Amino acid sequence: MKYEFKGNQGDFYMENPDLTSYLYFPLANESGVMSCVSPDLGGDSKMDQNSFLMPPVSCENLHNDKSSRNVWCRVDGRGLWSLTGRSSWQQAQLFSDHKESAAVEAGFMHHKLTRTLKQLGLKGTISSLVPATGEKAELMKIQIENISGEYKSIQIVTAIPLYARSADNIRDHRHVTALLHRIKTTPSGVIVTPAMTFDERGHKRNHRSYGVFGGNEFQRPVGYYPVLEDFIGEGGNLENPKALYENPLKPQGVDFETGGYEALGGLCFQECRIGPKEKVTYFVAMGYGNTEEELIQSCEQFLNERAFDRCWEQTADYWNNKVNVRLNTGNHVFDLWMRWVSFQPMLRRIYGCSFLPHHDYGKGGRGWRDLWQDCLALLMMDSSGVRQMLIDNFGGVRMDGTNATIIGSGQGEFIADRNNIARVWMDHGVWPFLTTELYVHQTGDLGILLENNSYFKDVQVCRGEEKDLKWKAEDGERQRDGEGQIYSGTILEHLLVQNLTSFYDVGEHNHIRIRGADWNDALDLASQRGESVAFTCMYGYNLKGLADFLEELKAQGTEELEVAQEIRQLLTEDRAVYDDIGKKQEILAHYCRSCSHRISGKKAVINGEELQADLRAKASWIFDHVRETEWISSRNGYGWYNGYYDNSGNKVEGEGAAEVRMMLTSQVFSLMSGVATDRQVGEVVKASHAHLYKEDIGGYRLNTDFHEVKMDLGRMFGFAYGHKENGAVFSHMATMYGNALYRRNASREGYHALMSLFDHCSNSEKSRVYPGIPEYVDARGRGVYHYLTGAASWYLVTVITEMFGIRGQYGDLVFKPQLLKEQFDWQHEAWASLIFAGKSLKVIYKNPRSLDPETYRITGISLNGIPCQPLNRDWGIGREELLKLPGQELHTITVDLNAE
Ligand code: G1P
Repeated sequence: MKYEFKGNQGDFYMENPDLTSYLYFPLANESGVMSCVSPDLGGDSKMDQNSFLMPPVSCENLHNDKSSRNVWCRVDGRGLWSLTGRSSWQQAQLFSDHKESAAVEAGFMHHKLTRTLKQLGLKGTISSLVPATGEKAELMKIQIENISGEYKSIQIVTAIPLYARSADNIRDHRHVTALLHRIKTTPSGVIVTPAMTFDERGHKRNHRSYGVFGGNEFQRPVGYYPVLEDFIGEGGNLENPKALYENPLKPQGVDFETGGYEALGGLCFQECRIGPKEKVTYFVAMGYGNTEEELIQSCEQFLNERAFDRCWEQTADYWNNKVNVRLNTGNHVFDLWMRWVSFQPMLRRIYGCSFLPHHDYGKGGRGWRDLWQDCLALLMMDSSGVRQMLIDNFGGVRMDGTNATIIGSGQGEFIADRNNIARVWMDHGVWPFLTTELYVHQTGDLGILLENNSYFKDVQVCRGEEKDLKWKAEDGERQRDGEGQIYSGTILEHLLVQNLTSFYDVGEHNHIRIRGADWNDALDLASQRGESVAFTCMYGYNLKGLADFLEELKAQGTEELEVAQEIRQLLTEDRAVYDDIGKKQEILAHYCRSCSHRISGKKAVINGEELQADLRAKASWIFDHVRETEWISSRNGYGWYNGYYDNSGNKVEGEGAAEVRMMLTSQVFSLMSGVATDRQVGEVVKASHAHLYKEDIGGYRLNTDFHEVKMDLGRMFGFAYGHKENGAVFSHMATMYGNALYRRNASREGYHALMSLFDHCSNSEKSRVYPGIPEYVDARGRGVYHYLTGAASWYLVTVITEMFGIRGQYGDLVFKPQLLKEQFDWQHEAWASLIFAGKSLKVIYKNPRSLDPETYRITGISLNGIPCQPLNRDWGIGREELLKLPGQELHTITVDLNAE
């Protein structure tokens, strides 16, 4: 079952989607409505963990549970046909040759299901969307067409369970919480307003109403089935509802009230006769309201064709415009697939990491590293709000260099963990610098480093090892100084705190301790003796990058910097100290204690050049140390980097008698940071290909099979090999591998890593997902946890800034393409259109001699047809020049690639 793209927006068409299991599609808006639909319109809709309109759905419910959107058509007063394909007889026919045909057509946030049953002479379509205009509702347009030569009597009945409460209640007081339901019918629908909510927030008076409304220009429902048990009847179920076998039907009327039962959005429309080629159309709105009036108002406006069709257009346009990066390479499918990848970070900002069927962990929100990485994609598509977002996010950093892990829903809102669980992920300090680095280059706004924000404060101190019992929740979640004032420091200071504290936080091999885990959340059983060499490399990269920032700040006139006096303890250029594990731990402990409750509030003035030298010394010490101690030479003549030490203090990777143990993460970060030397790049590539590459599942696996449940490293070894963090092709790391290779100018290898993922994921017969990149590909090749993954941001950034090489250099636009000759179209051109410096640009690369990156060079650039001069050493266009360009129109930049 392969999908095909239609048009230029990324819309696609798929026949018989119901013959692929586990498919789901996101429908959501920025007002907080989060729905998802499977090809038979299973799936759910919610606003948050405590407000589910339909019963919460996990991946296995997609095929096992019909408690979702059901739409029935009674034909000639007898036959019952489910427009969503969910009747028991349709299910029984699913694998026969006479199966009715079904197809899905979809684009961003809109989805249309068509089912045609020739024997019955009927075609039904259900178009679904969540309005981009912000109403708190999900809408359906239900249309039946008579494709036979005779008149038919048809009657539509919806059956949408109104669960109307917290996901927690699915197994916790499911029945008792139904007793809270107050149910009533109105002239257009069914409303449920539970009297109270029972969940972890306690027993509270509830105000949220949920409802299902329906009708069209001419009519409203003629009756209702507001109570689930009345509809399914004794012995029936939602695939075979007994109420619909009665003749005539006996629904309830308007103004019916009851309570204490599971509710149903059962709307019964008037039976009607339709002739050949005639259609009948109804509209349904499923919504949320803080009052019943608000609910009715947001839903009823859509119960007519004009309003629905307008909203359909507006929704498609809104998201199509939001995804404002467009590509043209020689591969049109890739270009359209990239639109879905670019769309995914927007989905993650809406759904967090919890609210699609595979994502059944967590109660909403995003994690710390997600927060930072999702900004990468924003910097490619809409950088307008990013400055403030970054500054606010830095407010989550603690003085000991760790950070808040519970992230509130408002920007810059960080919450103390009431359960007092200390968990420190050692990679957390890495991501803010990477995002800030991209931001500074894309925008030229080095000034952000000198902006101020406060620090996060809670009971956790000394990097999760101690508790500050003097701190009380009433003190608030911001670090205070000796006088009780909220302390503020620059963004640069926050970055220094994160990276310098990590530098000293070493274990027995003088690499940074893994503590709770690193990027791989499932490396969580090595908190005493474990070390992550992989991320030690990246801290080295960051320390060097911070020094580069200081150099640029100096060039722009900032010679001295103010930092909290306590930070001075972390500055020493003495390499003897760097080699001395005990001394490092002592310095860190000292520093942490000095800021464990309140800090002095005194500032020290530091010379920028001296600080630069200090940071460079630390970075180069890390590089040397990892190079000297962690390179593994294999028997086959190539090598790679060991990235971990386990809780027994042993090296994790290497070539044992029984098997090769190798991890992709270690290679990614040794390459990306620059720790791997140029000569080693080729060796790492060969080793990764030999040990980790598997063509039929999308490329580079996260690790080889250790054949051991390694209780001294992490829960990942509890997962069967080939799944998730244990050896799956984990898209995020596989994409970062591509990024790292491009950074090291290994263009063909980087391309290969990205394309292996694309080839697999975009082939829905193999990956069994709709367009886009899933979190990982399992051992059988199925893409799982579709849509919500950090891989999407990295993929987009890599394609733009590395593959196309269109990137900022302290605000100027420079070009460093690594496009291979096969990526150009038949006219030898490849282009990308995007926003940079607030201007819409189309960058066209011309490669008339079909050369590869090793052989082509940029030989000329023109802007709107006028030739430009090179910028210093690079080919590009200065920001000043770009800012002078007039407003809204599209400007064309042509870049010539040639041998000379
Ligand atoms: C997920 C998490 C991410 C974590 C990764 C590996 O990846 O969101 O924070 O680092 O698992 O454990 P993602 O879904 O972002 O690809």
